Amino acid sequence: MLYTRPVSSAVFHRENGALYLERVRLSSLLSSGLETPFFIYSTAQLVSDWQAYAQAVRGIDAVVGYAIKANSNPAILRLLAGFGAGAVVVSDHEVRLALESGFSPARMLLHGNGKRSRDIDAALQAGIILSVDSEFDLEQIAARALAHKTKAKLLLRVNPDIDPQVHPYISTGLLDSKFGFSEAAVERTRQRLQSLPSVEVRGLHCHLGSTLKTVQPVRDAARLLATLVLALRSDGHPIDILDMGGGLGIDYSRGLEQLPIPDELTLAVSPVLRELGLRLFLEPGRSLVGRAGALIGRVLGVKDNGRKHFIVTDASMAQLIRPCLYGAYHHIDLLDESVAGPSLIFDVVGPICESGDFLGQSRQLPTPRAGDGLIVYDAGAYGFAMASRYNLHLGCAEYLVDGQSIRRVRRAETFDDLSRTFSDEPISL
Ligand code: LLP
Repeated sequence: MLYTRPVSSAVFHRENGALYLERVRLSSLLSSGLETPFFIYSTAQLVSDWQAYAQAVRGIDAVVGYAIKANSNPAILRLLAGFGAGAVVVSDHEVRLALESGFSPARMLLHGNGKRSRDIDAALQAGIILSVDSEFDLEQIAARALAHKTKAKLLLRVNPDIDPQVHPYISTGLLDSKFGFSEAAVERTRQRLQSLPSVEVRGLHCHLGSTLKTVQPVRDAARLLATLVLALRSDGHPIDILDMGGGLGIDYSRGLEQLPIPDELTLAVSPVLRELGLRLFLEPGRSLVGRAGALIGRVLGVKDNGRKHFIVTDASMAQLIRPCLYGAYHHIDLLDESVAGPSLIFDVVGPICESGDFLGQSRQLPTPRAGDGLIVYDAGAYGFAMASRYNLHLGCAEYLVDGQSIRRVRRAETFDDLSRTFSDEPISL
């Protein structure tokens, strides 16, 4: 497929061919010597994407819990905590970082289909709710809660066997995914719950998958969960939370697709909330931070192998693995179009020693010169968070723009940082 659609957005915009993020001319960052690649985020976009959720839950008893796995840069966490977001975490380190960034434990939740005891302990110590994914998970949480002499508050993660119609790697609502209790397992567990005094089930959870293009599966799942709410209440559990997970997609095509907005999500579930008097928990990741971020790289050179044209950049799968891992589309542009040559069809690739190392394929772009800047849009979610050090390309810097000001919110990792973990010591058995 060939993608040629121009980008239009107020946060990213062009003036005389030069791309700006808010009031910052992006190519000037390169000419002032900033090392590439790097991620850059827009405060204005973060604010506007948060406001869409704040507006969607107006008048509803709800917590919007940010799934911090999408992007756990502390500057972004502090912003979202300041807006009043809750935090959805999946490890002891995420618990710690969320608490240090100002999220209130009362608005936090730990997930995981394979929680380690260190994760469970961190959640119990912080007093946050845990989702329970399976029968063995329930036994382990109950045992740790007993050891901590506390009562664990739980959400039961239900696998509703509903197809969210997304890439199989990020589809979680079907029974062949590894997540949650099947309805049959819920039935078995109802009995077991009666004899576990160290846990208290407070609600039900499901997360159908990520990059949802419609809210219909969420509506269907809410109905299904409603029947389980009634069943668990009839067993005497004080069920007051319905957690519908995250998953709203964003328009990676930047203009070609119509994606549901948070309002549609709350509309889809509010009948069930009202009927049963439940508090809503939502867990957006991508739709809160995806659009706000971009990956910026520098062109190393342009190459023609007789069959294809390539733009080779210093940005790669080591910073953004989504194109390689999911065949995901991210829009790509040159930072400065006015200085570029003829428009051709390019594969945009990185310098990593794998043919899978591409950021975009068959893209119509003006021919850049070595040293020119290039942007990969919509990289704020699952970009830095999934970066690797493959080929020893170490962690890159991150910047946060607010109007015309720009702050470095993470420095690039150095060889010294890396070598601090090297060791050569005997292990006594
Ligand atoms: N809640 C749970 C239980 C989740 O597993 C996830 C994401 C979220 C919330 C947030 O979902 P979101 O709103 O961001 O779609 N690496 C993949 C996405 C993996 C999502 C994993 N779970 C990607 O780059 O597309």
